[in-house]
Amino acid sequence: MKRWLARYWNVLRRPSVHFSLGFLTLGGFIAGIIFWGGFNTALEATNTEQFCIGCHEMYSHPYQELKDTIHYTNRSGVRAVCSDCHVPHEWTHKIARKMEASKEVWGWLFNTIDTPEKFEAKRRTMAEREWRRLKANDSLECRNCHQFDSMDFTLQSARAKQAHSTALVADGTCIDCHKGIAHKLPEMSGVRLR
Ligand code: HEC
Ligand code: HEC
Ligand code: HEC
Ligand code: HEC
Repeated sequence: MKRWLARYWNVLRRPSVHFSLGFLTLGGFIAGIIFWGGFNTALEATNTEQFCIGCHEMYSHPYQELKDTIHYTNRSGVRAVCSDCHVPHEWTHKIARKMEASKEVWGWLFNTIDTPEKFEAKRRTMAEREWRRLKANDSLECRNCHQFDSMDFTLQSARAKQAHSTALVADGTCIDCHKGIAHKLPEMSGVRLR
């Protein structure tokens, strides 16, 4: 083992006979840029709304529902897209796991929410995952755009002003009070709304 390692090290250490050092450095540099660029482009693509809608529009409603809310059109023209509020879920992870179990990955993946009935049946479970996530990170995604510090409470409705000044001290988090801001609420029995 040690001998093998030593030989391997020697190969790595020896200057290349075929290519100049300059060529190798440049080559590595360019390959790095191409790889990094491709990686980032792929990552960015998964953050676009088109990507999410590709799966989420056809039979289910998150997008249609969003269109009727203030986060789609408002007086100031600032839009929230899917990934602003949702970290892209780990679907690659899910695919990888399911690959082991079944070859019908795609069938399985799409079939969980591919009809309005199935979507409704699953809505509460999915919503709960999102609530848990936002609760755990103190509604980080909301706070990327909304900050208590920058809110002019005097411009807010009496209800909002009251809730927000108490939330400030009681450190409640946005999602405790603002469920269903972007989509229809699921069936809510047993959920305590603040
Ligand atoms: C390959 C298809 C596909 C793509 C692309 C996709 N989703 Fe999903 N998504 C699903 C499926 C299927 C489920 C239901 C998972 C289940 O049955 O547990 C789901 C569930 C969800 C949920 C519910 C919470 C959860 O963890 O189950 C959210 C939120 C969500 N997707 C948001 C997004 C966003 C945002 C994007 C874009 C960044 C996106 N999805 C892209 C297929 C997709
Ligand atoms: C990409 C930025 C962005 C993100 C992310 C975002 N919002 Fe907003 N939100 C806005 C804008 C812009 C408005 C409209 C402001 C206006 O016109 O006064 C708004 C309006 C609202 C309103 C007012 C609703 C009404 O009817 O007046 C509430 C409540 C709200 N957001 C809560 C949230 C919560 C909770 C989250 C996290 C789940 C969130 N927002 C995430 C940008 C964002
Ligand atoms: C303790 C509960 C509570 C918490 C926590 C809370 N809100 Fe609110 N918020 C309210 C209530 C109640 C209203 C008034 C709703 C109404 O009148 O329909 C409101 C209204 C708003 C409005 C609209 C203001 C207006 O006057 O039009 C925005 C924007 C908003 N909240 C954003 C947030 C964000 C972002 C967070 C987290 C940083 C947050 N809220 C945390 C209870 C809360
Ligand atoms: C302004 C923030 C916001 C935006 C923008 C947003 N969502 Fe959501 N989404 C939420 C919240 C919060 C929940 C948790 C359930 C609830 O309170 O309605 C949720 C829940 C979901 C669920 C679970 C099922 C359900 O209806 O509860 C899916 C799927 C989903 N979102 C997909 C999307 C897709 C796809 C987009 C883009 C077309 C999108 N969301 C845009 C905030 C947002």
